[in-house]
Amino acid sequence: MSELFKRTNMCGTLRAADAGKDVVLNGWVDRQRSLGGLIFVNLRDRTGITQIAFDENTPEDVFQLAETLRGEYCVGVKGTVRERSSKNPDLPTGDIEVAAKELVLYSKSETPPIYVKDDDQVDENLRLKYRYLDLRKLKMQQNLMFRHKVTKLARDYFDEQGFNEIETPMLVRSTPEGARDYLVPSRVNQGMFYALPQSPQLFKQLLMVGGCDRYFQIVKCFRDEDLRADRQPEFTQIDLEMSFVDMDDILAIQEGFLKRLFHELKGVEIETPLRRITWQEAMDRYGSDKPDTRFGFELHDLSDLDVIKGSEFAVFQNALAAGGSVRGICVTGGSPVYSRKKIDKLTEETKKFGVKGLVWIRVEEGGEYKSSVGKFFDAEALSKIAAEFEAKPGDLILIAADKNKVVWDSLGFLRRHIADQMGLLDPNQFNLLWVTEFPMFEQDEETGDIKAMHHPFTHPMNEDIPLLDTDPMKARADAYDIVLNGVEMGGGSIRIHEDDLQQKIFDILGITKEESRIKFGFLLDAFKYGAPPHGGLAYGLDRMVMLLTGSKSIRDVMAFPKNQNAQCVLSDAPNIVDPAQLDELGIKLESGEDL
Ligand code: AMO
Ligand code: AMP
Repeated sequence: MSELFKRTNMCGTLRAADAGKDVVLNGWVDRQRSLGGLIFVNLRDRTGITQIAFDENTPEDVFQLAETLRGEYCVGVKGTVRERSSKNPDLPTGDIEVAAKELVLYSKSETPPIYVKDDDQVDENLRLKYRYLDLRKLKMQQNLMFRHKVTKLARDYFDEQGFNEIETPMLVRSTPEGARDYLVPSRVNQGMFYALPQSPQLFKQLLMVGGCDRYFQIVKCFRDEDLRADRQPEFTQIDLEMSFVDMDDILAIQEGFLKRLFHELKGVEIETPLRRITWQEAMDRYGSDKPDTRFGFELHDLSDLDVIKGSEFAVFQNALAAGGSVRGICVTGGSPVYSRKKIDKLTEETKKFGVKGLVWIRVEEGGEYKSSVGKFFDAEALSKIAAEFEAKPGDLILIAADKNKVVWDSLGFLRRHIADQMGLLDPNQFNLLWVTEFPMFEQDEETGDIKAMHHPFTHPMNEDIPLLDTDPMKARADAYDIVLNGVEMGGGSIRIHEDDLQQKIFDILGITKEESRIKFGFLLDAFKYGAPPHGGLAYGLDRMVMLLTGSKSIRDVMAFPKNQNAQCVLSDAPNIVDPAQLDELGIKLESGEDL
């Protein structure tokens, strides 16, 4: 075994002031350059890179060993820090180098299948397969260290606020959060299954009934849903619940947390109380329940304009007749940016949100209008529409007509997509806001079923409780989401703690008494024994870290994420299992013979 060099410093920490010090560094060879009588090795650990110099003063055997070093060899170095003759302003340690005196080779590396370089454009599956190499990248290390700081800060803050971290079980019966469950077969109870929790929702409510008062947990959640850049089958929540509070109490505690988080980890001061915007206003102005407010292009409803109502343009007429709306956005300075061809492309991209087309109006430099529907709208009519947006020369108006939801989704997508293309999404601006007053219920587009918008345990706003009997689709919930730059970073609600109200909600959702007894009888029972008023919230930790580190995907802030097919390509999970294991569980696969 090679001798272990006891480290004195990390590779990213040495500065000009350290010149003259004897140091011991351990790490990986980032790069070795042999220039005849001189060898430079960039030594890397999770904190950064230091240049090691081997020259005529280096002992012969050390120099010879240095000649054999290749990328990703793991080594230790003893030497003296000295100021560099040619400094490297791109490296924090670029003013110094370490003149090597001793070198130990801990282990060699085969030629690595991926470069350990932050900007390496390699296929993501290859990165995930060799994740241990990928993790050596400084950016990945920084992300993981940042993530640690977030969880530490959360633990410290919520502890100070009187929250206790309490673990809830991982083998549970399914919680109705809306996604599919991951199931775990039981050996001792053959034919029966646990589910992995989609969230600790029911257990944290039971903790409140249990008198725990303030609970939090940094907890894994599991959802078998279609994956995207900001979704993983296995992800982490900062989950919390409080008793004897209303929404204002909960949001105030969260704002304290967010303020500290941004101050300590980003050096950004956020103003509290945060802006609150109702769901209705968010949809009307931004076409989204998670509005990105870093730029304008707000939606305007044109449905009531005489020129629209009275027009002969069938697309608008049909939408209005069907109870839908005609709305638009004005892209400031967008006319020269978007040629006819580019607008066609935008239209195609927007169609996946359900709209069948887009109408455009350009305000020309001279103030005249050009439009795709010039046949139906004369200059005066176009100017009336443009006036709604206070459009100026150079602006581009885009209009969609359909059912409200389609129009919102389409324009909501369009405004952010265009802002992205026009470079208006400033990653250093952090716009946080609460979205409140969500509808209690929504209708499933395919089945027509009524679903809870948040979850079935969410309390209606007190003033809307009478609506549950008369017009439940109009009832609003005591629910809130925290949104950062157009991403839902967390959400929660005040919960129902009243037996009869809970039953009423189940009735509206079409959950029969028998079904509700089977699915969550244990919660309903608990409510019979003095349940406190309570409410809470959960942040998506991965999304939070993704946004704060400016990462493109939550996979870049998780050590071992799954790929787009929910696979761990490193350990090859999921995988087939030994037939004996299935036997023990009493499970027969339909395709069993083939395995
Ligand atoms: P919700 O389902 O809104 O609420 O989840 C809370 C937050 O978790 C994050 N999140 C995800 N992150 C990564 N991958 C996923 N698949 C994923 N799904 C959700 C989001 C989201 O805002 N029990 C309730 C909370 C409560 O009411 O207290 C819940 O789970 O950032
Ligand atoms: P069409 O009637 O399909 O020939 O469409 C006439 C114009 O209206 C085209 O420019 C379409 O892009 C546009 N258009 C079609 N459907 C919609 C819609 N739902 N909202 C806005 N514009 C539309």
